[in-house]
Order: sequence, then C-alpha cells, then structure tokens
Amino acid sequence: MSGPAVVLVGPMGVGKTTVGRILADRLGVGFRDTDADVVQRAGKPVADIFLDDGEPHFRALEREAVRTAVETHAGVLALGGGAVMAAETRALLTGRPVAFLEMEVGEAVRRVGLDAPRPLLAINPRQQWRTLMEERRPLYTEVARAVVPTGGRTPEQVADDIMDAL
Ligand code: S3P
Repeated sequence: MSGPAVVLVGPMGVGKTTVGRILADRLGVGFRDTDADVVQRAGKPVADIFLDDGEPHFRALEREAVRTAVETHAGVLALGGGAVMAAETRALLTGRPVAFLEMEVGEAVRRVGLDAPRPLLAINPRQQWRTLMEERRPLYTEVARAVVPTGGRTPEQVADDIMDAL
C-alpha cells in the first residue's frame, strides 16, 4: 500500500510534530502535519477557524486535508488530535503504519494547559482533557498498529520506540 511511511495520532500536545520531524529526519523523508495544511487552506490560524466558522467547518477541512495527505504524502504524517473522530478518516487509516502517542491526563494539562491556539481547552482544561480522552482513546487504539507511551521519554526516545514498534 503506498502512502505515508508513518502516521502519528494522539492528543494535542503529546509531541506529534516534534517527534514527527525527528522521525522524518531519521528516515530521510518529508514531514507533513494536517493542522498546517488546514491553516494554509483557510488562510488563518486554527483558533480563528473555530471562532469564525465553527468546529464542524474545521472538521470538514480536516477530513479533506487528511484524505489528501494520506493519498499523496509518502513521508511522516501527523494528524490533528481530533482527526480520528471521523469514521472516514479511521477507515482511511486501516492497514497503515499508525502510531498512537499516549500520555496521561495530568501530563497533558501540564504540557498544554490553557494554550490559546487550542480552543477546545479554553475552559476547565483538566475536565476537558478527561472527557476528550475518554471519548477518543478507543478511537486512537482502533486505528493504531503501535501504542507508544510518551511519559518520561524524550522526543528522540519516542522516535526510537516508534521505529522499533512499526
Ligand atoms: C484538536 C487538536 C489540534 C487542532 C485543533 C483541534 C483536537 O491539533 O487540530 O485545535 O480536537 O484535539 P494538535 O493535536 O496537532 O494540537
């Protein structure tokens, strides 16, 4: 099956972009991030898309960005944290080398906190994280060929773990 060498999924702030760039360097391939594709297409930051156009519009742009990237990008691909909520996206990922980067809720709140560009966490980040993770963990697990914990690991170590696991 042609397509990305590695696809990274997992919650926001887990390090998909940092780890993805390291992995791409090691594999000598390009790195692509569907959030960046959506931002480029919309001509404004993610937070502005949510505020001006609403989450459903963002999700439609995201589904399209994921489909295009999965079909055309041969390197490392990082998906936005909520991309797996789309059944269409989960179906596209079937049989592909997908790694789920995992982290604990406490760690997530420490790392991401009230980060403004992440509008889903604007109110009560700890509770939001719990709800998001309860809803999404089964979806990340469903698409993942490898589940890779990130707690206490450097991005380089996580990249090693992914290469070992896939
Ligand atoms: C989101 C995660 C973000 C971005 C948007 C929504 C989510 O991506 O797509 O803010 O629903 O978890 P990252 O996981 O790349 O931060």
